[in-house]
Amino acid sequence: SSSNLMNSTTSAYGVRRGFASESAPERKVAVLGAAGGIGQPLALLMKLNPLVSKLALYDIAGTPGVAADVSHINTRSEVVGFMGEEQLGQALEGSDVVIIPAGVPRKPGMTRDDLFNINAGIVKSLCTAIAKYCPHALVNMISNPVNSTVPIASEVFKKAGTYDEKKLFGVTTLDVVRAKTFYAGKAKVNVAEVNVPVVGGHAGITILPLFSQATPKANLPDEDIKALTKRTQDGGTEVVEAKAGKGSATLSMAYAGAIFADACLKGLNGVPDVVECSFVQSSVTELPFFASKVRLGKNGVEEVLGLGPLSDYEKEGLEALKPELKSSIEKGIKFANQS
Ligand code: NAD
Ligand code: LMR
Repeated sequence: SSSNLMNSTTSAYGVRRGFASESAPERKVAVLGAAGGIGQPLALLMKLNPLVSKLALYDIAGTPGVAADVSHINTRSEVVGFMGEEQLGQALEGSDVVIIPAGVPRKPGMTRDDLFNINAGIVKSLCTAIAKYCPHALVNMISNPVNSTVPIASEVFKKAGTYDEKKLFGVTTLDVVRAKTFYAGKAKVNVAEVNVPVVGGHAGITILPLFSQATPKANLPDEDIKALTKRTQDGGTEVVEAKAGKGSATLSMAYAGAIFADACLKGLNGVPDVVECSFVQSSVTELPFFASKVRLGKNGVEEVLGLGPLSDYEKEGLEALKPELKSSIEKGIKFANQS
């Protein structure tokens, strides 16, 4: 039941274009950090999405150029660029979905937590503005460390009196995208048919792909499952090392971010059975935030789905990830409340 970006983007070119823009409700999407490595291709992909009627592109620099460029594409949405904090309110006002890829990326040798000192403050100030200008928007948090930036956002919203746990999402779709790709390669099945839930969080061992639930079934040997798990957990690092100082995943992340935002929009529009994995407020485990399958609806999270049956290897992985995930969550909460 995972959403397929091509279903919506192809309709932007073809005969269904008129249909989509006439029948789909007005939806405003804002991208914060829109001139960055993720922001630019994500802006492009959101411009191709016929569910979007207004696309607001915000960054501290560079957005007029990105917006002018993207705005020439002959698809439904009206594109406007906003630059600098004094234009942030206008960028956010009326937004249904706010996607946040603002912040610094990793360099080789860094963990995602090494980004905390810079990105925590960025996320805090952007979320303060969201609480003021579009408190009902669905927030798609991409900025790392996601395991901490989502709790930061929740605390900022709580303080502002606008927190709705159904509307805050850590974007972990790239972990799912990777797990699907790597599994399809190893199992020699059609990648377009593959589904793999990925649960936990979004850093190292907190990323827990559930290959025992992968479809189509392939009955891979344990050593293959271990290798696939490790590669999924280290997928971000694989890209950071290959880019050798020039940042982290941007193109695959833009794709993943566009898939997740599309799922949010479909949910808002009342499309049934939209399910994606996401890092959300959760009672699936004893941790206050946890990534698992989530059913999306008109108010955001409709249902946080359970983990389903786990293999012994996955059960071990689940126990092993909890201390790190717990401390990353607590770090975010503490930051939001002390500063
Ligand atoms: P980048 O440096 O290329 O772009 C970041 C952009 O954010 C820049 O254009 C910058 O001007 C902007 N920015 C900085 N401060 C801002 C502010 N206060 N308001 C608005 N914009 C601001 O980095 P990138 O490669 O696009 O990565 C962005 C973030 O996404 C990083 O934290 C990275 O770790 C994270 N990321 C997350 C995932 C995931 O799976 N969740 C995947 C890849 C990257
Ligand atoms: C990823 O998974 O690619 C991102 O979280 C970026 C990173 O730092 O690895």
